[in-house]
Amino acid sequence: MRNAECKNKEAEMSEQKFESQVPFINSVREMAAVHYSRPLAYVDTYGCQQNESDSEKLRGMLAEMGYGFTDDEYLADVVIINTCAIRENAENRVYGNVGELVHTKKLHPSQIIVFCGCMAAVDGVVEKIEQSYKHIDLIFSPNKLWRFPEMLHSTLQERGASGRVYETGVGEGEIIEGIPVRRDRTVKAWLPIMYGCDNFCSYCIVPYVRGRERSRKPQDIMDEARALVADGYKDITLLGQNVNSYGTGLHEKIGFPEIIRCINDIEGEFLIRFMTSHPKDASIELFRAMAESEKAARHIHLPFQAGSDRILSLMNRGYTHEGYLEKILAARELMPDIVITSDVIVGFPGETLDEFEDTMRLIEKAQFDAMFTFIYSKRPGTPAAELSDTTTREEKQERFDRLLVLQNAISEEKHSRYIGKTVRVLVDEESHDERYPYKARTNGGRLVHLGGSIPTSLGSFVDTEITHCSSWSLFGELV
Ligand code: SAH
Ligand code: SF4
Ligand code: F3S
Repeated sequence: MRNAECKNKEAEMSEQKFESQVPFINSVREMAAVHYSRPLAYVDTYGCQQNESDSEKLRGMLAEMGYGFTDDEYLADVVIINTCAIRENAENRVYGNVGELVHTKKLHPSQIIVFCGCMAAVDGVVEKIEQSYKHIDLIFSPNKLWRFPEMLHSTLQERGASGRVYETGVGEGEIIEGIPVRRDRTVKAWLPIMYGCDNFCSYCIVPYVRGRERSRKPQDIMDEARALVADGYKDITLLGQNVNSYGTGLHEKIGFPEIIRCINDIEGEFLIRFMTSHPKDASIELFRAMAESEKAARHIHLPFQAGSDRILSLMNRGYTHEGYLEKILAARELMPDIVITSDVIVGFPGETLDEFEDTMRLIEKAQFDAMFTFIYSKRPGTPAAELSDTTTREEKQERFDRLLVLQNAISEEKHSRYIGKTVRVLVDEESHDERYPYKARTNGGRLVHLGGSIPTSLGSFVDTEITHCSSWSLFGELV
């Protein structure tokens, strides 16, 4: 019934296609075949799930162009570095590894090195690459990714003429459907439902590098979800920087809760997850849709960032600490077993010790199952970069350490409640640890190291008895 409703809404919408790239795909396939017997590509991905999903598209396009894949950058004819700009240390890691590629290129002079992802859209980075990383042949920003065949084609033509290809603007940020995808895994799949971000949190680079927020059409999302279920995927994660604002700008009225309900109506045994939710837009309708959809995993990642209302306001987050706590209370009321995880930033410019204590208090009250803690990193060009920051690096580190100690204790206490219980988990990864040959996830997304002698296989839902835990994961035996 609901699928039919979704379809009706979808019927009126037009399609945008990837077809303009087909001639370039064919041409690269021919060019690459002339130069190499079997061209190989190496793709290295930094950053968030959005980037991982983008890399799956790059691999999909490469496969169409006749490339195989290697884990050894020395063997690769095309090396792709898909970068992240969220914090300075992420950028430094990229620069270090990109620098190393000088050696691979020396041994393999016809190698094409591609620098893409969020850093390629940051002011100043392109200039730095141009001056100091002369071995890079092609640079393009995330919104240009769909034209990769065309850009690789130009690069192959330029080769030897010392020409470099740049496509680095943020651009309009269209949505291009029909890009081939080559997924990394067989159990879990990423499903982007929207791109970009309009929230402009004052510390964050994402809106500047990913462009304006735009939502995929429900029909395209549903088609991809159905195909994933038909292909046997058991764990589908809907991606967006703020999935709760899904639908803004689409000409029909549809919101994220409806997307959950529609996907839930697809027949089959699978789980629906999503990342990330912005607290200001997390609504009762969302929690209700989750509670009423048996396939929606009982997990929400709801970054709170800070516990002080002054800091939250300076961050431009659009909620207060109380508003935040009310939201998670409402979620727990509807779903008592829901797993709640979060992100927090310490050392935002001007954060006083008192304001940091507000963050500690919020963590005590919220009792997150897990939390990702970040030290504030100045991103040039963002409003927060203009604020004066007098807290020393040491003070920030001290605060960071205190947060970790507190959260680890809470996580461990939460995890200890699973011990002795039989829990249904999805086996989603093989592991090299002989005692625990598989990794699995609870419905709420907690990692379980699976031991025991009963055979199982990737993609099965199995019952496991939890025997012990750490602050990061659970350990269980198959029953
Ligand atoms: N769109 C998501 C977050 C994406 S970035 C959301 O709003 O929830 C992931 C996390 O990185 C953020 O939640 C934040 O905690 C952290 N982060 C972003 N910019 C940062 C910066 N400049 N310094 C430190 N941490 C940052
Ligand atoms: Fe960054 Fe805020 Fe957008 Fe998340 S919602 S990507 S933190 S600007
Ligand atoms: Fe990094 Fe870009 Fe994601 S900056 S966190 S890869 S959106």
